[in-house]
Amino acid sequence: MLDLAISRRAVLMGAGAAAAWLASPARALLQAAGKVQVPAFVDQLIGRMTLEERAGQLQLMASAWGGGSALSLNPPGNGSDFAQQVNEARQGLLTGVFNGNGARMARILQTAAVKQSRMKIPLIFAADIIHGHRTIFPVPLAEVATFEPELARRTAEAAAFEASGAGIDWTFSPMVDVARDQRWGRGVEGGGEDPLLGRLFAAARVRGFQGTDLASNEHLLACIKHFAAYGAGESGLDYNVVDMSMRRLREVYLQPYEAGFEAGALSAMASFNEINGVPSTGNHWLMTDVLRGEWGFQGFVVSDYTGDEEMIAGGYAKDGRDAAKLAFLAGVDMSMQSGLYRQHLPGLVRSGEVPEARLNQSVRRVLALKSMLGLFEDPFGRIDEKRETARSMLPRTRALAREAGRKAIVMLRNEGDLLPLPRSGKRIALIGPFAAGAHDLVGPWVVYGDDSKAIDLAAGMRAAVADPGLITVTQGCGVDQPLAGGLEQAVATARAADLVVLAIGESSDMSGEAQSRTEIVVPAPQQQLADAVSAVGKPTVVVLKHGRALALEGAVANAPAILATWFLGTETGNSIADVLFGAFGPSGRLPASFPWKSGQEPYYYAHKPTGRPNPPGELQPYKAHFRGVPNSARFPFGHGLTYGKIEYSGLRLSAPSMPMNGSIEVEATLSNRGKRAAEEVAQLYIHDRVASITRPVRELKAFRKLALAPGQSELVRFTLTPADLTFYGLEDRPVVEPGTFDVWIAPSAEAEGVRGAFDLLA
Ligand code: NOJ
Repeated sequence: MLDLAISRRAVLMGAGAAAAWLASPARALLQAAGKVQVPAFVDQLIGRMTLEERAGQLQLMASAWGGGSALSLNPPGNGSDFAQQVNEARQGLLTGVFNGNGARMARILQTAAVKQSRMKIPLIFAADIIHGHRTIFPVPLAEVATFEPELARRTAEAAAFEASGAGIDWTFSPMVDVARDQRWGRGVEGGGEDPLLGRLFAAARVRGFQGTDLASNEHLLACIKHFAAYGAGESGLDYNVVDMSMRRLREVYLQPYEAGFEAGALSAMASFNEINGVPSTGNHWLMTDVLRGEWGFQGFVVSDYTGDEEMIAGGYAKDGRDAAKLAFLAGVDMSMQSGLYRQHLPGLVRSGEVPEARLNQSVRRVLALKSMLGLFEDPFGRIDEKRETARSMLPRTRALAREAGRKAIVMLRNEGDLLPLPRSGKRIALIGPFAAGAHDLVGPWVVYGDDSKAIDLAAGMRAAVADPGLITVTQGCGVDQPLAGGLEQAVATARAADLVVLAIGESSDMSGEAQSRTEIVVPAPQQQLADAVSAVGKPTVVVLKHGRALALEGAVANAPAILATWFLGTETGNSIADVLFGAFGPSGRLPASFPWKSGQEPYYYAHKPTGRPNPPGELQPYKAHFRGVPNSARFPFGHGLTYGKIEYSGLRLSAPSMPMNGSIEVEATLSNRGKRAAEEVAQLYIHDRVASITRPVRELKAFRKLALAPGQSELVRFTLTPADLTFYGLEDRPVVEPGTFDVWIAPSAEAEGVRGAFDLLA
């Protein structure tokens, strides 16, 4: 519905052309290709704007609604006065706000901008819609464990539907930073340790958020973050420096960003870290040469929260003015939260330090995106209080959360087929700090979700069994502190039961931003609880809650059955119960390796062999490993069991060699010898035996999830081309070298599966 005041103004400004453009089918195609078309009225507008108004279009602030509750997810800022923020909108000093609260707030601010400001340019409303809006889906890392990018596309689309109903235009998502050090807390927001998975999930999420029509009130502008290599901070310490070869940067870390832009993402967020001495926010090579020059990115770049200002503390900028200039000239179009752009850009242009044409270029990018989002045509298109409620937590969205949740669960071990548990006839002791209660369900990085609307494990299990009275719940201990009498009670509860389900692990606040850990273990009081309960001797299933891969110890590591369940969101309890009691067979796979010990980090499967690899078997002196610890994972990337018994056999190559301009097919037979149906993820890995640059011991090149009924066999076939064998050579350019390649089709990165070899011919 067009607001009259707006449409009259729009016609005056030539925004009739914008409406025509919005209706054109060519737009969807351009959007999918990440292309931006700048309507003519944008330049007309820019021509009429003061320097201050133009700088205002490049300044994003945290919403001050409700006293600035948005700030609780970030370091305290200075924007807690909403009336002042409305005034800034009126003065044209604001391009938009983020993490605000709902359609009501957006209406007040948008009204100030489009009815009371001189230029009447609509605001953009952003938010961290990381894994859901009100219906919370599994944390992003958990979704990657599904090995189903299409599922992530669907959850992103559902999140966009809810969020865009609540006045939100733009999500600060997907976060696509490759994370190979599990001490880092923000791996939970990303795509895991592998660049191929990272690429596929980045692209899927962009497609889900943006859809084919950014102007529709069911989609959001996606933001690829944190550009770049934020996940590679030294020692896993959040915000720490990154110092790495160009080869590794391009071959591993830049991959998912590039895929996200290829999928059409039209905004990007600069990362907090520096790369080889230059902060990303001030890095012209990264933000302009690579992003725009090499990749042809046409959207706009926003700094992360005060990231421009932080270049002062980092020793790269002298003061706020210098920081604004460095960030802006590097290619960061918009500043988040510091206020530096609106404070300094006008003066920097007046003094000639920033060319006016550069200022106009960034303003053009931002206004073009506002236009693509439909904001000029209908600034209130996503702002509708009734629709906000009507779209919230619909049964179909919750059903999707449950589906995503159960598919994200990884069964790490299941000795003696302890799982699935019987639905009747057994007394079950459900023990641990995560057994029950409205806490730690939705997980980290949730702005609008609510633990009190989520299903806890106890409720999920009770709903799944024939006699809920047979489930006894006891906490045993706190997350990281003992509970008076807790151990004794837990032991007594275990004694009185036939089976124990131990719900232990990390709380939500142990991962996420600024939550790096030196020891990635189950906290000590819970470890003691596990040791005490396991000593009772009842069959025990460990249900882990976690935002990262963990180094499991003692009774937890030795439990006969272990489920990795991450943070599954609104439907946590139902999703876990589906797997525990066999309504759904586990099919998830680890997107990050569980090491034997914390001290192995950064541990990732695609490591180099080194000149002294330890041969399979016993640890040998003068071979690469830590004292007493194999150079492998306890549970490697790609690992995950099913309720079936899957055998891999008969690896066959279509030829002994692949011509440089040809391809080769690799196939194997997967058979389910078990009594239950299974969904298996067959993974294809390669290893380049000899190259001018040493290559990883394995690299994932393809995977396929396939359903196998009991007794069923299926042929799985993959095609490899020279593109799959490419790496960054001595000149830091992609090369393919002839030679011998090992190839595996296997159930994990460290399982043998079936193996062969072929030659790539010159
Ligand atoms: C800082 C975080 O690094 C970023 O991921 C987030 O989008 C912003 N804060 C806004 O909340």
